[in-house]
Amino acid sequence: MQTITNRRLSLPALTLAGLALLASAPPWTPDAAAQTGSQPAATFTRDVAPILQRSCQACHRPGSIAPMSLVTYEEVRPWARAIRDKTSRPDNDPDRMPPWFIEKNIGIQRFKEDISLSPQEIETIAAWADGGAPRGDPADLPPAIAWPGGKDWSFGEPDLVVSSPEHTLEAVAADWYGLLDGSPTGLTEDRWVKAVEVREVLLDEATVERKSGDLNLFVVHHAVISARERSEEIQTQSRPGGARGPTDLFMVVHEVGQNATHYPEALGVRLPAGSSLNWDLHLHSIGVEVPFRIDVAFKFHPRGWEPKYSGRGGIISYLTFDIDIPPEEPNAKMEGMQLVTQPGILMTFEPHLHSSGKRMCIEAMYPSGLSEMLNCAGYNHNWVKVYVYDEDHAPLLPANTLLRVTAWYDNTLNNPRVVDPRNWKGYGNRSTDDMFLNLSRFVPITEEQYQEELARRQELERARLTQDND
Ligand code: HEC
Repeated sequence: MQTITNRRLSLPALTLAGLALLASAPPWTPDAAAQTGSQPAATFTRDVAPILQRSCQACHRPGSIAPMSLVTYEEVRPWARAIRDKTSRPDNDPDRMPPWFIEKNIGIQRFKEDISLSPQEIETIAAWADGGAPRGDPADLPPAIAWPGGKDWSFGEPDLVVSSPEHTLEAVAADWYGLLDGSPTGLTEDRWVKAVEVREVLLDEATVERKSGDLNLFVVHHAVISARERSEEIQTQSRPGGARGPTDLFMVVHEVGQNATHYPEALGVRLPAGSSLNWDLHLHSIGVEVPFRIDVAFKFHPRGWEPKYSGRGGIISYLTFDIDIPPEEPNAKMEGMQLVTQPGILMTFEPHLHSSGKRMCIEAMYPSGLSEMLNCAGYNHNWVKVYVYDEDHAPLLPANTLLRVTAWYDNTLNNPRVVDPRNWKGYGNRSTDDMFLNLSRFVPITEEQYQEELARRQELERARLTQDND
């Protein structure tokens, strides 16, 4: 049960730009749903515990960020109905659990560190809750996960953790945009970054309650963290993107409630010897004074590793500042185009809206005239997720691809993150205002590298189709 079973259900490897859309996709088969009726009732120890271990306990365990632990039967039992409710909502429901909002009926379904539940797992949880949430045979219980510590990282033991200076955010104040002093990494040699994870650490946890629904779950709403020269960084409003300094220097735009970023194997993201991390922050007050710091954990490639593609991947960003969301409007829509002038690989999908945002789609319109929906995802401004494509499924885009990005906004009381839906809403830096950004990372490559990668993908695709026909 530790495997990610929904991988089987994914739609075909898309994004072989210019190839015919694959009509031979294996049909989506919710076979388990049909069978569960005849199965014995699901139990906690045999069926539910493994799901919670894989997709929930990273947050729902003592000392982590969620309000309750979901480790032992005694802890889980009182939450059975709530768990059933939160897990069985539509894929893109902004209040579903786990926080992962990719729509599964369209687009690419192969992501790194996908914590979402398969349809079978959702069925299992529902059957268990509906059947009275039984414990089951204690002998079935999988061994508890040995979390290394209360505050461990999703990728296990990091190679380096760098902390920001401590800072105290006022209880009631305007959103804060500013810089903290740099933190030396202490590195004496250059290292290539394989993965990075960013956390806000509350220094006085007892006074701060993480509240469901509104915008008060985290105080760090964004942190642009980079190893760039400080002088290049003091342009708070002109971020992000732009090739300032060497393009392979580490730079990550961390967003509220974000998961770890695992870089593609081929990409070289460099943390240099003698570097410091710069902190360029947007903070959001939550009604109590909050002392905090930010920790950044790095996983490095082994020494001697050489990247195939240099450059950390630029960020495709602003679409428009001209946002117009009428009062009490449940479904305002924005649309924008981004022209990709160089061939390259879209490494991530990262919708970035603000409080009223509820959904974003990204579609590739190829120079050949074909277009392809890459992904759609729900949006919750407590959980600004970065969806990192699996190596072989990251969209490979030819030069002159147009990306069409569409976003929808819910400015009504149905959206608990909206403060007062009687207000018209437009673009603004505060979390309570709105934005329309696609923060996807794009790795530009040469035409030759593009042809090479295309041939590799076509070979993979041929192998897959042959396998399907066996
Ligand atoms: C990335 C961290 C994270 C993961 C993974 C996660 N949760 Fe949560 N969960 C939270 C946080 C934080 C809250 C409280 C704030 C909120 O509701 O957004 C929460 C709230 C909930 C609630 C509502 C609690 C209430 O007060 O009503 C339920 C139920 C829940 N989670 C179940 C689950 C289940 C089941 C899974 C796995 C299938 C899961 N969560 C995965 C962080 C997480």
